[in-house]
Amino acid sequence: MGVYPIVLSQTKFTHQDNLDYPFEERGLQFGDGIYEVIRIYDGNYYLFTEHVDRFFRSADAIRLELPFEKEQLKTLLHDLLKQNNMKNDGIVYMQATRGSAPRDHVFPVGVEANVYAYVKDLPRNLSNLENGISVITKEDIRWKKCYIKSLNLLPNVLAKQEAKENNCYEALLHEDGLVTECSSSNAYLVKDGKIYTHPATSRILHGCVRMAVERFANELGIPFIEEAFTLADIQSADEMFLSSSTSEVLPILNVDRKPVNNGIPGEITRKLQDAYQKDANISNRKTAQQ
Ligand code: PDD
Repeated sequence: MGVYPIVLSQTKFTHQDNLDYPFEERGLQFGDGIYEVIRIYDGNYYLFTEHVDRFFRSADAIRLELPFEKEQLKTLLHDLLKQNNMKNDGIVYMQATRGSAPRDHVFPVGVEANVYAYVKDLPRNLSNLENGISVITKEDIRWKKCYIKSLNLLPNVLAKQEAKENNCYEALLHEDGLVTECSSSNAYLVKDGKIYTHPATSRILHGCVRMAVERFANELGIPFIEEAFTLADIQSADEMFLSSSTSEVLPILNVDRKPVNNGIPGEITRKLQDAYQKDANISNRKTAQQ
């Protein structure tokens, strides 16, 4: 429940409800930091190494020195679950910024990163998993280093808000008609038994679930083609789906109010959902789709 956030280094963010924030904090003032969201099932991390590796990659990419090695961070994150006696489905949110220092665009000297993590319950959204979701399309106006999981999420926030105002779950982003990903998930199209998705370039976040989806596809003998699809391709798509740590694998049934596959979740999407549940050790549960 996030009752005992863990403070991973020098910081004043000792409690979520502590209002004594240092205003001159680089995450707050510049978005100068990175984050991760790690899924938890039954109190166990899912795709743990993948998330920790990406956290370190993001830190490297913005030249942020983390005050611990990977193995130390892993131990701290396991302790966080123990301290909170976490046994449920949930997430850990973890963030690192370039620290607290007088406001100046250049990096502060001799200032340690502020790092914290907290745990929260998050039940699986069985209704979305079973019934699928709708998306709108939006131009991708983000910067050119989307592979970094940076705190600068304003374009993502605005796109997702617009999706919500259109009774949709997500915004499917495109650059001149080439689909990159969604505002907080990766996007896929299925055509003639093959999965298409934007290559893992700097234009998208390299999703941990995306990596798992590629693995599932390989195991199932379904071609996984890293080739961007276009908005025009959507009209003749057999299936579409998205993936993320909080959403898992979700059927996309409408794009800009037009149905995909007559608005029915596709067969390959269902196979990937099953593979996900097996991989996450949750396939024994009674879910809406079984
Ligand atoms: N979002 N693309 C974007 C832009 C994302 O923000 C995310 C994750 C993903 C999927 O990544 P992963 O499979 O590693 O969760 C793709 C997280 C969940 C968030 O910001 O809440």
